[in-house]
Amino acid sequence: MTVYDTLIRGGTLVDGTGAPRRRADLAIQAGRIAALGELDGHRASETLDARGLVVAPGFIDVHTHDDRAVLETPAMPAKVSQGVTTVVTGNCGVSLAPLLGEPPPPLNLLGGRDWYRFESFAQYLDAFNAAPAAVNIAPLVGHSTLRVAHMDELQRPATTGEISSMCRSLEDALDAGAIGFSTGLAYPTASAASADEVVAIAGLLAARGGIYTTHMRDEGDHLLESVAETLETGRRAGVPVVISHHKACGRRNWGRLAESLSLIANAQGPVAFDVYPYTASSTVLLASFLDQAEKVLVTWSEPHPECAGAVLQEIAAAWDCGLEETAARLQPAGAIYFQMDEGDLQSALRYPGAMIGSDGLPHDVHPHPRLWGTFPRILGHYCRELGLFSLEEAVHRMSGRPARVFGLRERGSLAVGHHADITVFDPQAVIDLATFEQPTLAAAGIHSVLTNGWCVWRAGEATGARPGQVLDRAAGNGPA
Ligand code: ZN
Ligand code: CU
Repeated sequence: MTVYDTLIRGGTLVDGTGAPRRRADLAIQAGRIAALGELDGHRASETLDARGLVVAPGFIDVHTHDDRAVLETPAMPAKVSQGVTTVVTGNCGVSLAPLLGEPPPPLNLLGGRDWYRFESFAQYLDAFNAAPAAVNIAPLVGHSTLRVAHMDELQRPATTGEISSMCRSLEDALDAGAIGFSTGLAYPTASAASADEVVAIAGLLAARGGIYTTHMRDEGDHLLESVAETLETGRRAGVPVVISHHKACGRRNWGRLAESLSLIANAQGPVAFDVYPYTASSTVLLASFLDQAEKVLVTWSEPHPECAGAVLQEIAAAWDCGLEETAARLQPAGAIYFQMDEGDLQSALRYPGAMIGSDGLPHDVHPHPRLWGTFPRILGHYCRELGLFSLEEAVHRMSGRPARVFGLRERGSLAVGHHADITVFDPQAVIDLATFEQPTLAAAGIHSVLTNGWCVWRAGEATGARPGQVLDRAAGNGPA
């Protein structure tokens, strides 16, 4: 008889591979899964009764802006309350390092000058390792961050010299432990970058086994051209590509996701995408994003903090001025844009290789509910209530699949020897509670969450344990 650190007894295992659920106990020793199966005769320092509950891998949030949150609020309640144990940071071209100084939008999603204090990526990772969070991080380096660090003027493509400087920075970051590179080509900090610039920088990843993720140049009228550009960039650079928060924006483009999904299905190289389960997007408030939205909700405003949570159209009416002028007066600011179609969203979610990423914005005063609701909403609303996919498939999209695409070794599925990142939830009760009106409510039905064998969420509260690690990427992985 072995005495384990922790025994999770009587649960139903949904192991993250997509395989059918089965009854099994799970034992943890030294941060790893030590045994699976009937473990009746065994004892442990701690026992968790999982009768009636599902035991699944901890979820991997593949699209986050948690670069600063993991340092500032290391208990990470917004994420561990959803069963998330790993976050991929640095998405959309925005990473907290390597950059010193005052960041322009959208880099200010992560904060102002006070937070851009890491001259090198190694310094950022040192800060995390010195004071880890409740979750693991798999960090990306942002293209816009590199542009701001190395260019004096952003409204043009980078010169050969600037590209070399960005490449050197990216190499340093990869040496320090970054898993890849992200772009946000829709944003003013990067929209003038040519495809050649991106290929030149992303090309570095090929020899290093890195991954490339992109908030594409256009998700509205030119969605299909953007998908084509993305696939071409991946092919030319010789790297696996992840399309971020895949969607079709603007009523006149609704229904077009079917076309972009078929481009993806027929792509030659390795490509995958992530999606969040809502029909509203959120980022900084930008005048150029206004025309496609049916309604805009302000999430924060530096000069007008009282406007957080208010509808832009109503503020404009009260101030008796146009939408663009209102947006200008609110700057710097953030917003939620209601601009997608439920049918498109469901076809993205249903797509066999879809991954789930919250794209939550942890520093917004009145954030998009995806920050607190994404993963339980997949399990409760889209799986249980609407039956879009089986529970096994839902869990796979949030664990096994992203672990494979991002090359996160021995994570994302429950097997002996794997790291003990585990979520225990009630399949009948799990549901998101965060709404556009009340966006920071923790979900229901997430029973216990363990990162590297340590309990980080229990009985509706973050435990304060901070066992998170910086994860590296196993080369040779990617979307198959
Ligand atoms: Zn984005
Ligand atoms: Cu994002």
